[in-house]
Amino acid sequence: MIDQRKLPGAEIYVRCKTAAEVARAIRNMVIRGAPAIGVAAAMGIALGMRKSTTTGTQKFAAEFYKVCELMAATRPTAVNLFWAIDRMKRTFAAAAKAGESVDQIKDRLDREAQAIHDEDVASCRAMGAFGAAIVPADARILTHCNAGALATAGYGTALGVIRGAVEAGKHVTVFADETRPFLQGARLTAWELVRDGIQTTVIADNMAGSLMRQGKVDLVVVGADRIAANGDTANKIGTYSVAVLAREHGIPFYVAAPLSTIDLGTPDGAHIPIEERNAREVTHAGGSQLVPDGALVWNPAFDVTPHPLIAGIITERGIFRAPFIESLAGAFEMDAARV
Ligand code: MRU
Repeated sequence: MIDQRKLPGAEIYVRCKTAAEVARAIRNMVIRGAPAIGVAAAMGIALGMRKSTTTGTQKFAAEFYKVCELMAATRPTAVNLFWAIDRMKRTFAAAAKAGESVDQIKDRLDREAQAIHDEDVASCRAMGAFGAAIVPADARILTHCNAGALATAGYGTALGVIRGAVEAGKHVTVFADETRPFLQGARLTAWELVRDGIQTTVIADNMAGSLMRQGKVDLVVVGADRIAANGDTANKIGTYSVAVLAREHGIPFYVAAPLSTIDLGTPDGAHIPIEERNAREVTHAGGSQLVPDGALVWNPAFDVTPHPLIAGIITERGIFRAPFIESLAGAFEMDAARV
């Protein structure tokens, strides 16, 4: 996997040889972004089991569930992680029920992880095609954090919508919030879009309001880490402020995410677990100390945007609108009907 902590200064690839190394890479944000975390966890589980030297199915099963626990303990907010682990567990259970050998189960886990990867790319492309419809012909789009190819198996969710609009022939320019404290917008979104030749202007997070007031933003599109049943959406810290600003300035605020990010088991945003990360992410930048010793630090990695601020949720099954409690449940019924 590409080491996202090193971008844009260096393009360095990390080779994980064990499940523990994959779990560490997720926790340390070598890889990040909700769908990418889910794909990495599934591949980490398949890798861990591939490396197992156990021959008995019972011991193999015990090892499997331990590896799943290891992955589940990495980051708490992005539900794609738990969705992917559950999928791997269902795959394991089906293989065991069919009386498969350890080697056959290993193959099945590999295939499932690869399928999760491939489906995520397809979902992003579908989101891009649906999302392009809400992008004006000449659009200045503001996004927060990085919801691009780096954060998914490829193409991106929010950046997928931007890419889809460009592919549909629209003229799109992007404002990327730098996204303190980890700078996913400045470092990663700008890196991806510049490589694609899409005009990108990076702004410090506190500039978004002024930019909107000057009438320079037509649309906001962001990704999501977990969408509750009522549409409340957890995404990178600062997303809520952007949504409030967008409402104040009459700018449509859209969320782009695959169904694997929608968690109907979580009724509303108040029930979404919010990860708090190390204070050093706030106190230091590139090794330099920004904050004096002794100052307290609060570093929540995500916030929740209440559903009334969201114009629509762009998924691989189409765009869902309020009342989300009904439309999101309906999305899964559509999905079940397709299977
Ligand atoms: O802490 P991160 O970098 O993993 O947070 C990522 C985000 O908040 C993204 O916007 C979200 O995961 C959507 S990625 C398609």
